[in-house]
Amino acid sequence: MKKKIALLPGDGIGPEVVNEAVKCLDAIASRFGHDFEYIEAPVGAIAIDQTGNPLPESTLEVCREADAILFGSIGDPKYDDDPTAKVRPEQGLLRLRKEMQLYTNIRPVEAYPELIDQSPLKNDRIAGTDFVIYRELTGGIYFGEKWLSEDQESASDLCLYTADEIRRIGHLAFQAAEKRRKKLTLVDKANVLESSRLWRRTITELGKAYPDVQLDFLFVDNAAMQIVLNPSQFDVVLTENMFGDILSDEGSVIAGSIGLLASASVGDSTALFEPIHGSFPQAKGLNIANPVASILSAAMLLDHFNMTEEALVLRQAVSQSLKQGVVTSDLKSGSPFGTSEVGDFIADFAGDDSASDKL
Ligand code: IPM
Ligand code: MN
Repeated sequence: MKKKIALLPGDGIGPEVVNEAVKCLDAIASRFGHDFEYIEAPVGAIAIDQTGNPLPESTLEVCREADAILFGSIGDPKYDDDPTAKVRPEQGLLRLRKEMQLYTNIRPVEAYPELIDQSPLKNDRIAGTDFVIYRELTGGIYFGEKWLSEDQESASDLCLYTADEIRRIGHLAFQAAEKRRKKLTLVDKANVLESSRLWRRTITELGKAYPDVQLDFLFVDNAAMQIVLNPSQFDVVLTENMFGDILSDEGSVIAGSIGLLASASVGDSTALFEPIHGSFPQAKGLNIANPVASILSAAMLLDHFNMTEEALVLRQAVSQSLKQGVVTSDLKSGSPFGTSEVGDFIADFAGDDSASDKL
């Protein structure tokens, strides 16, 4: 199959981890006879440096023409340390999500048996964890009207949702639950926020069309606690933009490293695949960043192309790397393996048709 993939490596460790994901996609392409064409485009701080714009029009055009987008990471300390900066790298990603209408961000959270001892949480609490966060991605407080008063002594970010915005992600989350363990947990703050009460009403109404799915509700403060106390209770967790951002970082502690969590952002047309981690500027160029989140994002991309076997083979290769301890130092301190060695191992294993027989 011929597919066009837009590569947006972005900032910090983004280019290094995307490079490893591409290695793996190439290995899959040659094994399964696909033709992946990549078109690279700048986004984030690097795009600001080159053009003054974190999401140049030419980058958007590349994304619009692609079958899928593989994204690295975004952010640079020179902007984080300057609260007055008018143009920020993050605006590139946020605008991209909005422009491409990528309203649903899917973030799987798993306890990998091979890594169960890596998590700072106790084994018996996290064993069997397998849930997926459905995070609304183009609304809420991230996109509501913002202002800073002239004297810079007050500021506001509006959290606005419409029932339609809730319904479109709601359907996807219910459908996911139907295919999984048939449980959907809506996380909100309905005891305080009007927008959360709208979420509850809308999702409850929608739930009538999915009678096989058990729907329950949790306040976000309680959810934050439950995710570390008893994470295996969750199947599909549906939530608004900012709660989903926070809870998914928390969920990564279960897996053992934020360098393991992948995500897919989907809407009505194209889709974007990115690790949930940031640009980790301290690690840039040092060959120490964990490429697995990016590689697992590439596996989600293969699923999106309906290349189910290909995605499975890539995930098996990742799990083989974890089993054999071919991991970066975030997972095993003093590990001799760097970003590119881990990527090579996974790509070699995924590309070798005799390797899977040895599993
Ligand atoms: C993420 C990131 C982004 C977000 C930032 C970089 C804007 O943290 O994808 O989780 O908050 O959505
Ligand atoms: Mn985040």
